[in-house]
Amino acid sequence: MIPQSFIQDLLNRVDIVDVVERYVPLKRAGANFVACCPFHGEKTPSFTVSQTKQFYHCFGCGAHGTAIGFMIEYAGVGFIDAVKDLAQSAGMQMPEFKPEHPRGKTEEGDDLYAIMLKAAQYYRNQLKSAPRAIEYLKMRGLSGEIAREFGIGYAPDGWQNLHAEFPDYDAKALVAAGLVIQGDEGKRYDRFRDRVMFPIVDQRGNVIGFGGRVLDKGEPKYLNSPETPLFEKGRELYGLYQGRRAIRDAGRVIVVEGYMDVVALAQAGIGYAVATLGTATTPTHVQKLLRQVDDVVFCFDGDDAGRRAAWRALENSLDQLADGKQLSFLFLPQGEDPDSHVRKLGKDAFEKLLGDAKPLSQFLIDELKSHVDLATGEGRAALLKEAKPLVMRISARFLGRIIRQNLAQVAGLDVRDLEREYGIKESRSVQARPQYRRSVPGFW
Ligand code: GTP
Ligand code: MN
Repeated sequence: MIPQSFIQDLLNRVDIVDVVERYVPLKRAGANFVACCPFHGEKTPSFTVSQTKQFYHCFGCGAHGTAIGFMIEYAGVGFIDAVKDLAQSAGMQMPEFKPEHPRGKTEEGDDLYAIMLKAAQYYRNQLKSAPRAIEYLKMRGLSGEIAREFGIGYAPDGWQNLHAEFPDYDAKALVAAGLVIQGDEGKRYDRFRDRVMFPIVDQRGNVIGFGGRVLDKGEPKYLNSPETPLFEKGRELYGLYQGRRAIRDAGRVIVVEGYMDVVALAQAGIGYAVATLGTATTPTHVQKLLRQVDDVVFCFDGDDAGRRAAWRALENSLDQLADGKQLSFLFLPQGEDPDSHVRKLGKDAFEKLLGDAKPLSQFLIDELKSHVDLATGEGRAALLKEAKPLVMRISARFLGRIIRQNLAQVAGLDVRDLEREYGIKESRSVQARPQYRRSVPGFW
């Protein structure tokens, strides 16, 4: 870690006005400087930079931070690089510091992040001389530009291609990184062979895993990195890093199931999609997204599997609901996924569909209703019984009340009776949850 005292010194030495001006022309307005906010689209300036407080703040989108925060958010650099850059411009010598990510180091001292980056660069280079893979990506409608943006690469066929990149092919770190498989009798081989490679990047831009797709028919269709010290599937979202600007601009994020869905949406001009990585949507995923936006649209296939995935996403979102946030579900026609559908409809029509997505409150009740016979007392009782554990988890004050009211109405009950039967006291529904504040992840 870089010592906190150095960070303080640095922030005292640099002037945030100079730093922001490198990227965004500022105008003086009284004690502050203003500009049109670089973090969201606007015509009148609500982005201010305070020289006395050494902070920037946007009254429009809430973006806020120090000179370091600005570098991270605007220039898209990591924390360490932001500090290095500013220290250099202020003529300050960087202190010795232990690496930012001790968890990325193996016992032998190998840096898993560096290994993953090197592998990603290798795969990307290999794509250039792999006409079959390029042809495949073209056939899926991708331009070179989008392939570059997502760092898409190709792992050639062969058992030990990585040996040339990593002379110490026997290093434990290659297995720990999930790139190499230790077979029986000490034989080792590359995990990814003859696959299109999608690097999975964390929120700081580090490569932490890969998804590899077969070019032709073959099993498994997608091969993902195993869980490693860097890569925890239930926490990560594919495309979140690449999409962060578009997500902020749109004020919305779409959650889809596949790598190709994210990339195809970006290709169509919808850059604000992310995918779970072959897992259900977890509470951590939802929490991560709601920290950045107020509007989350889950977009799943129109088949039974899609409905089940949507229901899982709903269950895992209930604890995170908050008034002012909006979660909704878009079900595509049978046989379509976001990739195929956006290619058919184009950007505008697809975005129009998003606007018609079913709100969580509606999906919850519709789905519960579909399991029972509302014409009978028994059916309505079953509905209330099934709904109880779900609605009890909603602590958003107003949304919770409204959902209970809708439920009571469907069951033919007064909402106060329903709440009494559920054991909800007035005070419980009044309890407020702490709201997430927009902040630079992990720092302040
Ligand atoms: P394309 O056929 O390339 O369009 O992929 P898709 O995204 O439409 O595939 P699908 O809907 O079958 O899968 C969605 C996501 O599930 C993928 O992006 C993967 O993350 C994961 N997945 C799909 N197939 C496999 C598989 O065979 N093994 C594993 N581990 N994950 C898979
Ligand atoms: Mn698909």
